[in-house]
This record gives sequence, structure tokens and C-alpha cells, in this order.
Amino acid sequence: MFTQLASPSLSRSTLSLPKDLFAAIAQLKRELNAVILAHYYQEPDIQDIADYIGDSLGLSQQAASTQAEVIVFAGVHFMAETAKILNPDKLVLLPDLEAGCSLADSCPPAEFAKFKAAYPDHLVISYINCTAEIKAMSDIICTSSNAVQLVRQVPENQPIIFAPDRNLGRYVIQQTGREMVLWQGSCMVHETFSEKKMVQLQIQHPDAEAIAHPECEPAILRHASYIGSTTALLNYIQQSQKTAFIVATEPGIIHQMQKVAPHKHFIPAPPLNNCACNECPHMRLNTLEKLYLAMKNRTPEITLPEGIQAAALRPIQRMLAMSALLQ
Ligand code: 13P
Ligand code: SF4
Repeated sequence: MFTQLASPSLSRSTLSLPKDLFAAIAQLKRELNAVILAHYYQEPDIQDIADYIGDSLGLSQQAASTQAEVIVFAGVHFMAETAKILNPDKLVLLPDLEAGCSLADSCPPAEFAKFKAAYPDHLVISYINCTAEIKAMSDIICTSSNAVQLVRQVPENQPIIFAPDRNLGRYVIQQTGREMVLWQGSCMVHETFSEKKMVQLQIQHPDAEAIAHPECEPAILRHASYIGSTTALLNYIQQSQKTAFIVATEPGIIHQMQKVAPHKHFIPAPPLNNCACNECPHMRLNTLEKLYLAMKNRTPEITLPEGIQAAALRPIQRMLAMSALLQ
């Protein structure tokens, strides 16, 4: 298969890249006893070579149960970090260590510690899109697929801080009727969609159903017939009688949507400007070439201070246990 060079900075090292990267990665996977876990926002080639593709909850569950010795995480830093927290003795590789997350960055640990101190009797529920330091300060971790149900499991009289995503937090408040103190963080990608353009698109495609990720702003969510995590959106388009969808999340998921429902039509929700800013610049830093090189060189590796690792593990385990009760 023809593989394009990812960036000029890779051009020298790519001279020694094998012609068939797919075969070379499969070979390295056997040699390392590795598993490749990928998020839906990764480029199509990476999704196609992954052993498992999923949303943040599914990826955490896979990381928690894998027998592989090496975890190659094709996603962003907080996801690979979660895999490392769950597997402190395993080698966890992230193809590009710069693959961060604007939402995780919107919650700096020192400021969050002060915020938390102002609400000493509150339980802290943090969305998994945060750093290990924030997880270590949290009581329960949640994802977009279980946030509503986990909040419902908390006793009524227990006040809650929800961090870091204000949009998911507002959505959970709306769904549960629970008051929560929200940290005012957000995702640069999910805040890029234009309500005006979305409505215009709905007028142009009256038969299309709008679906959205809960990280979107309320102005977008109110036009959506269905709101859910990436996996939930993928399941929804298969079950729906509709054959066209306006998809308000990172368009990487459309690769899987087209694979599972080739006869259906998927229209990416339009960003405010005529840009590609609905694509996550962090997720897209990973390429097939970098994934191959990470496996070949066994680096870049995710490492964590021991104290943070242990403290961050508890709220993740709590989420996994509470989610298992929901199944
Ligand atoms: P999910 O895939 O868990 O819905 O999360 C979306 C996201 O923004 C990941 O960063
Ligand atoms: Fe973070 Fe948003 Fe990218 Fe998801 S889409 S990784 S929340 S910046």
C-alpha cells in the first residue's frame, strides 16, 4: 500500500521505512506481544490496523483486561496515561508524545487543587479527558458513555464537583436534574461547530438526522436527535431507520460509520470557519509511520510518578466497577 510521508521532519527516518507498513506492524506486534488500541478519531489507516477501536470507556476496559505485554495506544496522552495507570508494569507506547488534549489542558492541577479546596464536602467526578494529576485528586472518573448513569448512582444529598468539561457537565445536569459545581473547561474541537451552519445544513437535508457528542455546546446539542459517546453514536446510526446523518463530533468516526453502514450517508457538522478545525489536531499527530517507529524503537513510552499512578488508579477502578454494574 502507498503510504504518504507524515511530515517533512520524518523524511530522513522514513527512508528506512518498510514498503508495507501494515505487514511490518503486524510482525512487530507478534515480536513484542503487543496490542494496538485506537480511538475513532485516529486516521483511517490506524483504525484499520488496530486490534480494538473504541470510545474512552471501551479503551479503558480493554487496557484493564489485556494479556499483551506491550500496549500501543493510538490516541491522545490522557488515554495512554490511563492505560499506564491500569498497567504500571507494562510498556505503554504513544506514537507521538505531543498528542495532548485541549480539554485536559484546560484544567491545570494547581488551579484545580485550589478550586477543590473551596468545596471540601464535595465529591469530585472527573471526565477521563484530564491529566493523571487531576485523576489523582478525583473520587470517580467517568466517560461520555457513563457520566449520566454514574452521577445517578451518587446519593442525592452528596454535593458534586464535575470537571473538567462544562459542556458534558451541563448535559449531565440537564439529564439527571442534579446540581453540580462545574469546572469551566472545554474541548476546542467540539466548540468549533456553528449553530447557524448546522441549521442551514438541516434545511438542505431535511431527511438527515443530527447526532452529537455531549462535549458540544448546548446550542448544537439542542438540534441533535441523539446525543452520545463515539461508540453510542456508532451504534445509533446502525439502529436508526434514517439513512442520512449530520455528525457533530470529530469526523474521524465517519470512517467506522461508513464501514458499518456503507449504504448510509454521513455529513460532518460544519465548523464556524471554512477550516478543518473539526479535526482534532492532537489525535491527528499520530500517523502510521510514527506508530511503526514507536513499536520498532519501543519509544516514546508513557511514564508516571508512582504516587500519582497509585492515587489516579482508585477513581478509575471505581468507574470500571460502577460501569460493570450497569451492564
Ligand atoms: P469518547 O470517544 O469517549 O466519546 O470521547 C470523545 C473524545 O473527545 C475523546 O477525546
Ligand atoms: Fe481532547 Fe477534544 Fe481532541 Fe477529544 S477531540 S482529544 S477532547 S481536544
